[in-house]
Amino acid sequence: MDRKAAWDAINKEPVPELKSIFANNPDRLSAFTLAKGGIRFDWSKTHLTPALMDRFVDLADATGLVKAREALFQGEAVNVSEGRAAEHMAERGEGNPESVSRAKTLHNRMRALIDAVEGEAFGSVRHILHVGIGGSALGPNLIVDALGRHSGRYDVAIVSNVDGAALEEAMARFDPSATLLVVASKTFTTTETMLNAQSVITWMIEDGVDDPYGRVIALTASPEKAMEWGVDETRVLPFGESVGGRYSLWSSIGFPAAMALGWDAFESLLEGAAAMDRHFRLADFHKNAPVIAAFVDQYYARVMQCQTRAVFAYDERLRLLPSYLQQLEMESNGKSVTKDGKPVDGPTAPITWGGVGTDAQHAVFQLLHQGSHIVPVEFIAAIEPGHSLDPAHHDTLLVNCFAQGAALMQGRENADDPARAYPGNRPSTTLLLDDVTPEILGALIAFYEHRTFANAVLMDINPFDQFGVELGKEIARSIEKDGPKGFDPSTMALIELALG
Ligand code: F6P
Repeated sequence: MDRKAAWDAINKEPVPELKSIFANNPDRLSAFTLAKGGIRFDWSKTHLTPALMDRFVDLADATGLVKAREALFQGEAVNVSEGRAAEHMAERGEGNPESVSRAKTLHNRMRALIDAVEGEAFGSVRHILHVGIGGSALGPNLIVDALGRHSGRYDVAIVSNVDGAALEEAMARFDPSATLLVVASKTFTTTETMLNAQSVITWMIEDGVDDPYGRVIALTASPEKAMEWGVDETRVLPFGESVGGRYSLWSSIGFPAAMALGWDAFESLLEGAAAMDRHFRLADFHKNAPVIAAFVDQYYARVMQCQTRAVFAYDERLRLLPSYLQQLEMESNGKSVTKDGKPVDGPTAPITWGGVGTDAQHAVFQLLHQGSHIVPVEFIAAIEPGHSLDPAHHDTLLVNCFAQGAALMQGRENADDPARAYPGNRPSTTLLLDDVTPEILGALIAFYEHRTFANAVLMDINPFDQFGVELGKEIARSIEKDGPKGFDPSTMALIELALG
């Protein structure tokens, strides 16, 4: 069967009524739930049926998902437009043995540097000021915020925006002589990061810090550029070119996370991710969490034409997960051409958005329940709380999370007053974590990475390049270098008014 025939078969499957989907299917819950890596995945409140699952497995076969997955793990050049492998799994010990061994060597180097900082080789370090943007910030920020906020080890600030207000805020909290500057950039050329790094150096100099460059650690796939900038080779922590920016938190880019959590916890994060790697690589598609999640994504994007999907973390520890996923999913799969450069035959990545429960219930849930858009919702909650307050807090949090999923699905009729009617039939997935631990968080993030990859294969696109971000950067550089020339009247006027 080819791809088109597989899609035709999917489109022919009847669309089930969600409200009554459990009524005639006593086995539905067990058929559409799966526990892996401390996470219980529940797709039972989606439109997925056993027949649809089979049709999607046909699609996966037609698109060569088994082969593509193996090529990914073997370290083949799956990033076809750039002729590169995508080897983030090697960072956690999975995949091509040579890449795994290279990653291990680099991790040992990272660990030795962390030991040196802890052993006061840099004097008394209390503050870690990490500058980086995109994949060089979002992953570490998520981990530090979820697991390192109360570790009592180092006070970590991760500054990404070029808006000086962001850096100023971190500087106001930190003592320059007790600060380690961590410059994270795969390319070591990113404007925002290099300007922020330079401003931190100036701040240190103005405070009389001796040898500020001696307090810099560089995390990069371009070590020679970091050295040119002034970082001594012994303080450069390299990672491989084949580790994509948004997949890099497992490499030396995870340095601030390892500092905040401690090395053992960082290793547990890698181990949790590795367990998810093995699951994705080996499990049958009918029982494969990232693959099933991708089937559901494809169904809503292409059959139900949903343009967005929403992720709500019912756990304060995971409050940065939606913004992390925005880069992972939209930068990876927000494309319009196939791997061969042909126009894609349907919508690609939906817009990922979301927030934190229960806050979001009082802001955006109106639209989810009664708006004219159908938005597939993903709820993420943990059985164990992240605090020691009255258990009523956590009970209320979880009750609300589960109530929302039920309400979206079942709705409520109101013949007398349409404004008070809830259409129901609205899909949701729930990911219930045993707890938010390094291991489980590692598994969760790896699940999202592989789901993104599986989606890309089903759509026949390359998830590992990001040329879409280049044009705007290029234009900004040309304005900075040569001044505004030849733009439309609106752009010319804005530059003139604001920059003179
Ligand atoms: O502009 C997008 C991007 O290239 C991301 O893919 C990347 O994570 C980010 O910029 C930062 O890049 P770098 O790590 O090279 O500074």
